[in-house]
Amino acid sequence: MSETSPKLRAELEGIPTYKPGKPAAVSDGPVAYKLSSNENPYPPLPGVLESVSAAVGAFNRYPDMACTGLMSELADRFGVPLTHLATGTGSVGVAQQLVQATSGPGDEVIYAWRSFEAYPIITRVSGATPVQVPLTPGDVHDLDAMADAITDRTRLIFVCNPNNPTGTAVRRAELERFLDRVPADVLVVLDEAYREFVRDAEVPDGVELYRDRPNVCVLRTFSKAYGLAGLRVGFAIAHDPVAAALRKTAVPFGVSQLAQDAAVASLRAEDELLGRVGSLVSERTRVVGTLRGQGWTVPDTQANFVWLRLGERTVDFAAVCEQAGVVVRPFAGEGVRVTVGETEANDIFLMTAEGFRKEI
Ligand SMILES: Cc1ncc(COP(=O)(O)O)c(C=O)c1O
Repeated sequence: MSETSPKLRAELEGIPTYKPGKPAAVSDGPVAYKLSSNENPYPPLPGVLESVSAAVGAFNRYPDMACTGLMSELADRFGVPLTHLATGTGSVGVAQQLVQATSGPGDEVIYAWRSFEAYPIITRVSGATPVQVPLTPGDVHDLDAMADAITDRTRLIFVCNPNNPTGTAVRRAELERFLDRVPADVLVVLDEAYREFVRDAEVPDGVELYRDRPNVCVLRTFSKAYGLAGLRVGFAIAHDPVAAALRKTAVPFGVSQLAQDAAVASLRAEDELLGRVGSLVSERTRVVGTLRGQGWTVPDTQANFVWLRLGERTVDFAAVCEQAGVVVRPFAGEGVRVTVGETEANDIFLMTAEGFRKEI
């Protein structure tokens, strides 16, 4: 066999593979809960399950490539023209298309760090250069430093609001000030995967901000609040040239008919789904309050997870949690992200955190 392998692009060297949250172990031991992927712990609504059953019997056919039904539902829901919408295989798929559409070798993509771990991967896969701007000591986006980092090579800036994995959110005045500093030919992507969990009225809805700013694109997903993570559907709201570029860079038939039908049914069942989000937000308040009562420093979170900055103790803490029955998401040397899940799972996590706190 020849020693020569096909030539791959040099940019791929050293790019880490995306690391998903660890699944909960299947064993004879106590129930293990997965708090490692910011998923929605509630099972699909019966009405949503029913809506996909027609598509289940027809998946020998390709889906509606234009996502016609979903697009018109989204246009109504958000009060935006159809030409301002684009769907994709999860919002991470749409984020990748945005980088592809704007940035290549020699171009720069700015984002906060630490933030959503797909950003460096999709940037480097496009051949562009990541520019990582550290979060403030309070684990919030440093928007002034991000604006200072803009050069004539900058093509795209991600603002993850609320930020994964810290849960922190930037507020209206500082975000508007930042947007005013960004040149009109640089695309700002407001990644609002966790928007429905926001309760701080000062955290702006990106859809309001995009309307009179042609260089702002809002990313949303059905994976979190709407509970469709396994079906892979997300979307962008942006002005014509950006939305059109997304339609060009889309993988044909990327959003399955099951996903489209479930997303439409979820929008129609929004009140019930947002009621569930409300329960998770109450649990979040309990989790954060209890942790702080135990002596932990927890940044204010507007998402469905909490962040504990554990530094060198991160991996140990994750191992102790796993032994207790909850799988969390460690970022070695930095901290642990813990999804707010089922009450029982949150209880196990809180008890484990209390025990660990006493030992350190
Ligand atoms: C900030 C952020 N953006 C996007 C995504 C991607 O979500 P999806 O591709 O499931 O829509 C995630 C998922 O964890 C996320 O945390």
